[in-house]
Amino acid sequence: MAGIDIPRETWATRTGFILAAVGSAVGLGNIWRFPFQVGQEGGAAFLLIYLLFIALIGFPAMLVEFVVGRHTERNPVGALKAIAGGAWSYVGWIFIATGFVILSYYSVVAGWTIRYTILGLQDGYLADAGEAEGQFVELASGLDAIFFHALFMAVVIVIVAFGIQRGIELAVKVMVPAIIVITVGMAIYAFTLEGASEAYSYYLSPEWGVIAAEWQSIFPAAAGQAFFTLSLGMGVMITYASYLGEDRNLAEDGAIVIGFDTAIAFITGLIVFPILFTAGVDPADPGAGAIFVSLAAAFGDLALGWIIGAIFFGTVAIAALSSAISLMEVVVSYVVDERNVDRKVAAFGIGIALFLLGLPSAYDLVLLDLFDLFADQILLVLGGLLLMILVSWSLSELAVDELSRGIGDLGSLGPAWIWAVRIPVVVVLIVALVLGILDYYEFLTGPFAEWVGGQ
Ligand code: PHE
Repeated sequence: MAGIDIPRETWATRTGFILAAVGSAVGLGNIWRFPFQVGQEGGAAFLLIYLLFIALIGFPAMLVEFVVGRHTERNPVGALKAIAGGAWSYVGWIFIATGFVILSYYSVVAGWTIRYTILGLQDGYLADAGEAEGQFVELASGLDAIFFHALFMAVVIVIVAFGIQRGIELAVKVMVPAIIVITVGMAIYAFTLEGASEAYSYYLSPEWGVIAAEWQSIFPAAAGQAFFTLSLGMGVMITYASYLGEDRNLAEDGAIVIGFDTAIAFITGLIVFPILFTAGVDPADPGAGAIFVSLAAAFGDLALGWIIGAIFFGTVAIAALSSAISLMEVVVSYVVDERNVDRKVAAFGIGIALFLLGLPSAYDLVLLDLFDLFADQILLVLGGLLLMILVSWSLSELAVDELSRGIGDLGSLGPAWIWAVRIPVVVVLIVALVLGILDYYEFLTGPFAEWVGGQ
């Protein structure tokens, strides 16, 4: 088999693995996507459902990816070949494709965060919402966007090229603690703002009426967000767990990763909403640009907003980086394991391809949506769904055995876990997939068709 003669790298320490998984999980999803989802989906009501999904869906699903990775010690394609073979190998391909597409535009959005960090240092945030919007449109597409997309991609390439211990593990040991310390610090700052109490009640006291009235949109949004934020459905956790050298308690590791991810998302809400309320910006402003437009406008309004904003966007950039390296590692591990390509060559070649694939997203926001919706609502859910079906229905014994390595006899928790995947996780993913496809169809025939007509 290709690559069998080269000893495969492993994490140097348990903390290294956990930090890498936390670094992957904590990203744009927590800091950019989460607050605007809360804003769009009705505040605290969404938060509550989201937390429920994290525990009931996210946790069991993460353990599935962990056991597949540790059991096979392979990249997603190799892993599926090893445990199932035949047509199931294509599921591994879906993972690679998903990681590839997501990273192409993730890097563009990450580029914006670098640009907005610099904008703060230039004291360039505009308090007027209309002007802030115009500024965003200018910076988010075109040459500016392409330049920062390239810069971000270059950093990702360098880290991944250095490998697991000297590249990824070293980088996350610096980045993840920094993210935690800065977010907590910013939440304390936000607490002192005058809009804080109004923001807390919006964020933290659910109106039950909202859940009853809008559950059809709250539920899929919360489920999708839970999967995305935990980096599930694209083989990241399979890949990271494949570098585990020793037996240890994967359930505990998973709980720690989820705890940190959820805490950071939650704390981000404690930062973002007080800032928005204090500056009088509406938190329900929809759209992908929301955080950039509305927060930048708020920073333009606040005393010392320029430096606070630079720290905020700088942290987002770091969080995006620690996620991007995990996506890149999925693709690189495949090429290294299965094709026997040198890691540095693989990282560089794939990085260039990703840069090119990201160009349409950097050219026009509609194209970014085209990629984002497809990867996020269809590919990611589809890959996740197929893996969950495979493992819970036909490989349950192997899965329970593997999970018990490092824990001991699971007793009735083993079947409980398998059944949690068999029905709740699978059903939620099927519903999410159907809704995702419908939504994508609407996008293709609506905004996208309009855009094409206008070209
Ligand atoms: N979990 C990351 C976030 O919250 C996004 C991500 C998804 C990263 C998939 C890697 C893989 O931003």
